[in-house]
Order: sequence, then C-alpha cells, then structure tokens
Amino acid sequence: MILVTGGAGFIGSNFILDWIASERTPVVNLDKLTYAGNLENLAALQGDPRHVFVHGDICDGALVGRLLREHKPRAIVHFAAESHVDRSIHGPADFIETNINGTFRLLEEARAYWQELPQAEKAAFRFLHVSTDEVYGSLGPDDPPFSETTPYAPNSPYSASKAASDHLVRAYHHTYGLPTLTTNCSNNYGAYQFPEKLIPLIILNALNGKPLPIYGDGLNIRDWLHVGDHCTAIRAVLAKGRPGETYNIGGWNEKTNLDVVHTVCNILDELQPDSLLTPHASLLTFVKDRPGHDRRYAIDARKIERELGWRPAETFETGMRKTVRWYLEHAGWIQNVTSGAYREWVGRNYGER
Ligand code: NAD
Ligand code: TYD
Repeated sequence: MILVTGGAGFIGSNFILDWIASERTPVVNLDKLTYAGNLENLAALQGDPRHVFVHGDICDGALVGRLLREHKPRAIVHFAAESHVDRSIHGPADFIETNINGTFRLLEEARAYWQELPQAEKAAFRFLHVSTDEVYGSLGPDDPPFSETTPYAPNSPYSASKAASDHLVRAYHHTYGLPTLTTNCSNNYGAYQFPEKLIPLIILNALNGKPLPIYGDGLNIRDWLHVGDHCTAIRAVLAKGRPGETYNIGGWNEKTNLDVVHTVCNILDELQPDSLLTPHASLLTFVKDRPGHDRRYAIDARKIERELGWRPAETFETGMRKTVRWYLEHAGWIQNVTSGAYREWVGRNYGER
C-alpha cells in the first residue's frame, strides 16, 4: 500500500491513474473533497480494489493514525493542499490550516507510525512531500533558474504556506530521522485541471466566446510541465531519491503568459477552423494585475536528471495539443465542474478587475 493525500485533485488523480497503470502496489487515497477535489477524475478506477478512497481531512490526526495502522503503507505521497494563488489572496485562512497545520498533523502521525515499524520496513518507509517552485519567490529576467539551494523567498499566502510546510518536512528529517523527500515543481498543466488555473480557464473561456483575462502586461513567465511528466518524476524520486533531499522538477519550458494564451488560441483555431470564434486570440483582454504577482519562475532540473535519470518526455507543443484535445473531448466533466461554486468564484475574482 501507499497512502496518497489529495488524490482527487488535479495532480493527485493523474498520479493515482498513472500509478495504478504502472505499479503493483495499491493506493489508499485520503481526500477532503474541497471544491478542487473531484471523484469523477478517478471514475476509471471504480470497482478496482487497488484504489481505496477515504473521504477525510489531513488535519484529522486520529483518522490519519487509524489509516496508517490499518493499511500499513510503505510510503505517503502528500499532495493535499489549497493550491490557487488568487484564492490565497482572497482568503488565506484555509491555506494556513491545510498546508501548514495539515502537513504538521500528517508528519506527526507519520512519525509515530514509522517509529513503531520493524527495522526493515522502517528503513524502506518514505514520506514524499509535493511542493512548488513558488517557495523560491520571483526571478529577474537574467537570474539563473531556481536550484535546490536557492534561498526561500515566498511572496503569496499560498507560497508562504507551502514554504512553511517544506520547512516542517525538513525539520522532521533533521530532528527525528523521518525518511522524507521533497519535490519542488513548476507550473503543471494537463487533463483534470480545475478551470481556475490559467490554461484550462483560457481553453474554456475561448470555447465559450468569453474574454481571455490576461493579468497586467501578460509578460510574467512560468516554466510549464505536463502533469504526466510530474507524475513520472514523483515515481522516480519515491523509488530512488535520497532521504532528506529535495529535488526540483521542471519542464525547461519558460513561456510568457501571452505565449501560453496564443498557443491555446492557435491550437483551437486549427482544431475548430469553422468556429465563429476563430481567430480565438481576438478574445484576449488585459485586466487588472494580481497583487504581488511574481514576475518569473524557472527551474534548474539538472539534479533530478543527474541523480535519478529523469527528464520530461513532453514538449510544450505536444503537451498543449493533448491538453486542448482532452478538454474538447470531456464536455461532461467540464459541465459538472463549472456549476454553482465555480461560477461564484469567477464572479468574485474577475468581477472586480
Ligand atoms: P488541487 O487544488 O487540484 O487539488 C488539491 C486536492 O487536495 C483536492 O482534491 C482537495 O480536495 C484536497 N484537499 C484540500 N485540502 C485537504 C485537506 N485538508 N485534507 C485532505 N484533502 C484535502 O491541487 P493540485 O494542483 O493537484 O496540486 C497538488 C499539490 O501539488 C499541491 O500540494 C500543490 O502545492 C502542488 N503543486 C501544484 C502545482 C500546479 O501547477 N498545480 C505545481 C507544483 C506543485
Ligand atoms: P496560475 O495558473 O494561477 O498559476 P500560478 O499563479 O500558481 O503561477 O497562473 C499562471 C499565470 O497566469 C500567472 O502569471 C497568473 C496568470 N493568470 C492570468 O493572466 N489570468 C488568469 O485569469 C489567471 C487565472 C492567471
């Protein structure tokens, strides 16, 4: 068994689908099913005994302790988090609760469970903490990309809460010897991403003829990685990573937001040449910037390549094409996730811009 937290979200569900397809070990999936959690992402596993879903909160220490003793996982892969920067600006409290307190509770329960394990299982156990490159702050145009030794300088409530959780994970290794691994990954995109994040939001708005909101001047840079590549990287770190280490994961793919949005529009123009909305780029609309908006993220992913032999398989072009096609082919999924709560968020975030 492995215990996955947040496995009904975007990356967690991709990870579980990928894991079940490639490994033998079953998965216990602990997820609170917040607005971002969606069991429809895992519909392909319905009736599959290798996936056990538990509806619950990582902040519930008693529940986590019970699950660990019942299922005896050889690893915890920790995705559960509040993950959207704009939401952290509107309301940071949930970010502190889940990302910091939740990770603390999980670490405490993991430590107690791990300490009771027989020697061989204790040595083999891993706690893999999934984190973000945003903990490193913002780069200038000529700065070298983030490496594992770049000092932390988080700028949003989201990245500050993730940075705090990374520090706790580090301390549990240093103080108690818990065999932890931390991954800091760049921006992901792909199937099942909730349409509050840039790429799915742009695809959906473009399909519906709605404005494509570009914050500020659109020249902020992110390093984009296809979610499938993030999943293979996490599997490599879990299998071969050295306890106590951190690994940066990135796509070697720096793009401005304007590049990203134009790429989506061009693919849609090509796939839907008869649409009345072609050219979709005519929908681009500049809107008020995000407060404290980080200018540039870029990852130096040489350590994971050197030590674990991992490199991304998708290019931006192949990954984006797959992603746009996926959204075109999953109208039912889109309809279900864009109901009430989503419309309320769009009103709150874009109404005032
Ligand atoms: P997401 O918001 O799509 O999913 C988060 C999942 O966690 C949801 O299923 C939600 O229900 C669950 N969850 C939230 N609070 C919980 C709680 N208290 N207890 C149990 N479950 C809870 O997020 P994502 O984009 O899949 O990101 C997953 C992880 O990867 C996060 O830790 C995030 O910081 C990190 N990350 C994301 C990206 C990205 O581009 N999306 C990049 C790097 C790192
Ligand atoms: P996002 O997907 O929210 O990820 P993050 O803030 O974690 O990098 O945003 C990616 C980039 O796109 C970021 O620079 C903000 C920008 N953005 C827009 O320009 N318009 C939008 O409507 C959204 C959601 C994001």
